[in-house]
Amino acid sequence: MDNVRVLVLSAAGVYAFMALVMGVIPGTILSKTPPTPGLVPLDAAAARGRDVYVGEGCSYCHTQQVRPLAQDRVWGRPSRGGDYAFSTPQLLGSERTGPDLSNIGVRQPSDVWQSIHLYEPRALVHGSIMPAYPWMFVAKDHAAPDDVVVSVPPEYAPPGKVIVATHEEQDLVAYLKSLKQPPLPSRAPSP
Ligand code: HEC
Repeated sequence: MDNVRVLVLSAAGVYAFMALVMGVIPGTILSKTPPTPGLVPLDAAAARGRDVYVGEGCSYCHTQQVRPLAQDRVWGRPSRGGDYAFSTPQLLGSERTGPDLSNIGVRQPSDVWQSIHLYEPRALVHGSIMPAYPWMFVAKDHAAPDDVVVSVPPEYAPPGKVIVATHEEQDLVAYLKSLKQPPLPSRAPSP
């Protein structure tokens, strides 16, 4: 074909059609998806914690999407559109170096566990390859009355210091604890 105008116009037409079918129409439908019943909007601390999660790059290693596959059952029930109603843009992630976190607030609701794990994953999970996030904590000689002290095992903390959580860390833990899949009102037993 040597008619440049026909070539350019037909390529542009195919592009516009695909953009409509694969982007605009699904986006419009999905933005109207009602929240899954029982889904709770993020409170202020959890919303700030979500920004920390993005800033620290947690989703480079953690997904928030449970696929309808047998090997994903350990992370929760299959995700559905309404689960993300209060989470735009969605933090689906594409790499699962660490576990899926869609339901971590149910699986591990302890803030003590979450904080020690963020300070030093290997203090809790032997041989963990997750990076430590010590800059989200302050090592102090003595804790002030309103400090949130994290009970890091002594062999992982600097000698004679107490480890205090920063506000960013507390927000991040609030976000992790908010990640809960509401049970589906279905007749089928959940996996
Ligand atoms: C380089 C990859 C990597 C990055 C980046 C990473 N993680 Fe992890 N994460 C892992 C691995 C691997 C595990 C499993 C071993 C463990 O529990 O320490 C894990 C485990 C976890 C768990 C426990 C999950 C469970 O089911 O027990 C939580 C919670 C978690 N990570 C949160 C975070 C948060 C929050 C961040 C960002 C501040 C983060 N991770 C960044 C790799 C990563």
